[in-house]
Amino acid sequence: MKADIVIYNIGQLVTFMEGPLARVSEDNAVIVRDAGVAIRDGKIVAVGRSSDIKSRFEGSKINADKRLVTPGLIDPHTHLVFYGSREDEFEDKLRGVSYSEILARGGGIYRTVTATREANVNDLLKRVLSVARLMLSHGTTTIEVKSGYALDLEGEAKMLYVARKLEELLPLKVIPTLLAHVPPLVYKENIQEYVNYFTNAIIPEIANRKLALYIDVFCDKGAFSLNDSKIILEAGLRAGLRARIHADQIEYIGCSKLVEKLNLDSLDHLEKMPEENSRLIAERGAVATLLPTSIMSMLEQSRPPVRALREAKTIIAIGSDYNPNNMTPLQQTVIDISPYILGLTPLEALAAATINAAKSLNISHEVGAIKENYTADIIIWEIENYKWLGYTWGYNKVLKVIAKGRIAYSRE
Ligand code: NIG
Ligand code: FE
Repeated sequence: MKADIVIYNIGQLVTFMEGPLARVSEDNAVIVRDAGVAIRDGKIVAVGRSSDIKSRFEGSKINADKRLVTPGLIDPHTHLVFYGSREDEFEDKLRGVSYSEILARGGGIYRTVTATREANVNDLLKRVLSVARLMLSHGTTTIEVKSGYALDLEGEAKMLYVARKLEELLPLKVIPTLLAHVPPLVYKENIQEYVNYFTNAIIPEIANRKLALYIDVFCDKGAFSLNDSKIILEAGLRAGLRARIHADQIEYIGCSKLVEKLNLDSLDHLEKMPEENSRLIAERGAVATLLPTSIMSMLEQSRPPVRALREAKTIIAIGSDYNPNNMTPLQQTVIDISPYILGLTPLEALAAATINAAKSLNISHEVGAIKENYTADIIIWEIENYKWLGYTWGYNKVLKVIAKGRIAYSRE
């Protein structure tokens, strides 16, 4: 039979077949020795024993040389489109100035808003492309991309247009999200007016132009209140978008409890979430998306309640939260530091960055697993088994990345 690419001699193939997982272990992972995979027209057409696949399929052959093979990584939380940088704020934080103080004095997100509004589309796209290429070369094949650094209709549309362009130019799958990030400073005394503008003008128009699939809101102290966040998410849902939320990152003001009332696919951050809310997320089948590098960049001591989330059987995903406050775009690094920051096992971290991340984006039926009819997003690693994830870190452990059935990266 004809194939475009045939990968054979895989030492260990690791994937997760039974849908998104609440309790990840070797019992519910699919771990196959001596495996092979055939790819045609951008899809996986067969997975099986190396010798069978090699003899059944003709096509360009890749010898995996007994290495680890996994699905491409899915990064379900990025603020990839922005302009400028904030390295001096990193020094301020190290001197003891908090993220909230920097934001309140008009720095942080507000500074990036000024730079992003001023940037033209081509400069923005150029920067975004170079970071996205870096992501691909480290194994990321799907990314969620948020707007949120323009705060007005045309600026937010510009950001989402850049996200869409990215998908045309690289073999990446992009899930675009309209983010209500912070009320602009000029609305400081009249936040209701901005919430009205956001819900009545920005959301319907962005949905109309099909520039976003998700609505997201930064629900926290110094950003949007619980009530305004609810209004914004409801408006997004009414406009036909799906919903996700930045919740309980800086202070607990009840944001994660919104999962009881609203259809949220994912609740992200959760550093300050009370343990008992884990059950609410699990009951609704939503995903808890944890962001370990963001915890580091905030110089944050609190952790999301990982043990309670596990006990409640919550589906856990991880993401990079790449943004100017947290300049780490690599989901591979996020996997590697998850055991240290969150206490995840390497296998949990791999599920969190593949099938569970796909679930948080509502695409676990097409990406996030090595399975027939799934998109051919596959990594051939330098390491021989998954137990080396996190065990060794700080360099690129990826040898080859196949994205949408094409070789997107190959180490020389
Ligand atoms: O997810 N918390 C809100 N938004 C981002 C930070 C954005 C920024 O500081 O520019 C986050 O951490
Ligand atoms: Fe974020």
